[in-house]
Amino acid sequence: MNRTTPVIPAEDIQRQKEYCAELRSLNAQRPAPPRAYVDTYGCQQNEADSELIRGMLADMGYEITGTDQGADVIVINTCAIREHAEQRVFGNVGALVHGKRKKPDQVICLCGCMAQEAHVADRLRQSYRHVDLVFGPQQLWRFPEFLRRVLLRRGRVFETAPVDGAIAEGLPVYRSGRLKAWVSIMYGCNNFCSYCIVPYTRGRERSREPEIILKELKELAEQGYKDITLLGQNVNSYGKDLEGGWDFPRLLEEAAGIPGDFLLRFMTSHPKDATEKLFDVMARCEKAAPVIHLPFQSGNTRVLTAMNRRYTREQYLEKVAALRARIPDVVLTSDVIVGFPGETTPEFEDTLSLIEAVRFDALFTFIYSPRKGTPAAEMDDPMSKEEKSANFDRLVAAQNRISLEKHQAYIGTVQRCLIDGLGEDPRHGLTARTAGGRLVHLDGDPSLIGRFADIRITDCSTWALFGELDAEPS
Ligand code: 5AD
Ligand code: SF4
Repeated sequence: MNRTTPVIPAEDIQRQKEYCAELRSLNAQRPAPPRAYVDTYGCQQNEADSELIRGMLADMGYEITGTDQGADVIVINTCAIREHAEQRVFGNVGALVHGKRKKPDQVICLCGCMAQEAHVADRLRQSYRHVDLVFGPQQLWRFPEFLRRVLLRRGRVFETAPVDGAIAEGLPVYRSGRLKAWVSIMYGCNNFCSYCIVPYTRGRERSREPEIILKELKELAEQGYKDITLLGQNVNSYGKDLEGGWDFPRLLEEAAGIPGDFLLRFMTSHPKDATEKLFDVMARCEKAAPVIHLPFQSGNTRVLTAMNRRYTREQYLEKVAALRARIPDVVLTSDVIVGFPGETTPEFEDTLSLIEAVRFDALFTFIYSPRKGTPAAEMDDPMSKEEKSANFDRLVAAQNRISLEKHQAYIGTVQRCLIDGLGEDPRHGLTARTAGGRLVHLDGDPSLIGRFADIRITDCSTWALFGELDAEPS
């Protein structure tokens, strides 16, 4: 297929596999298999990347463990979206120095979006000398080569120079679940929202080829996966760099045509590119879950313009109306930022009124965090922290009330849910998800995990629904 983004040549991927084989034979000589631990921060894209890292580590002969204690290789897959996430990473990476003193041959790696920030790489180089390997998201496919270099030469490796993104296919995946799977359909972002670091850390938008994605989805369906999420920073840009008239609605519709009993979700959708065509496909494809994450970020058009979001409050509300006209009970979730530079309290109140108008099922609320190198970090930001926190608290209180009211409306209904795991509360031994992705606690036998079942909703909280099996699971 002709395309405008580069694809890593098969022979380069093959070379990485040869490095894996070389390390696998070295590891096989050890008395017990060495262990590797991968810790993931941030978004689902990072979760998916970590499954690739675990896949490569397993291919190199490492046993994947759930703890850094005594691990031979530790990989920290980081997030740069907010200051708070970065501070946590620095704190946790700093603490690893004690384990490494006890086990000097341990290899500590840091990857993900933080690795692509020059000031982070400098700080790691100078003040975190126990970190052996640092590489950015565009270099993920070269991890076997980098780890080999660290192990065989025992030097530090920093591969953090900005590189153009490409598509790397054929890497092994180590999936952590048997029911739920992430599938990246594209990488990068071209939107440059003025507050966001992602376009700088993950590079330009590039799509995987539809045939490869559809083949992967078919295999997942055959393996019994029941809940598959298609991932991209903005899935609605899918296909812009491909020939053949591909776009996201077409991909979703073809994916929904794959035989099997599974649901398809996707995230994230930029509202400016969420089209009626997409909503039509969601409405007519039974396998497309009736849920959409549609971040609005602010309810005020001036703030949206300063954010470079390229839609107005009214356009956002029109999209929601067009969606609900087709799927009246669609589950709608969103992201919102409070305290963007220059946002006044009356402008913030437009955000409050937007959530009252839309009534989202759930909202991910963030206080603005300046990110070095983004345009918003240079803007005047006169509002005090206290005032931002007060606005934030008002927003959270309003949304909690709406979430509770939305959950109350489920009581007495029967929902087809996927029973997906064990609960923590002994009175509700199982957890399940509605098609729209709402969490349900219920009692039942663990042998039901992995089955779809009709659940009668009997009670709720702000965060979850409670129910009981209504009929024999299908
Ligand atoms: N400060 C606060 N929140 C941010 N987000 C992205 N960048 C920032 C920032 N600098 C939020 C947006 C986005 C979500 C993933 O994180 O709401 O949709
Ligand atoms: Fe960041 Fe905007 Fe791209 Fe989302 S669409 S990753 S918020 S720049």
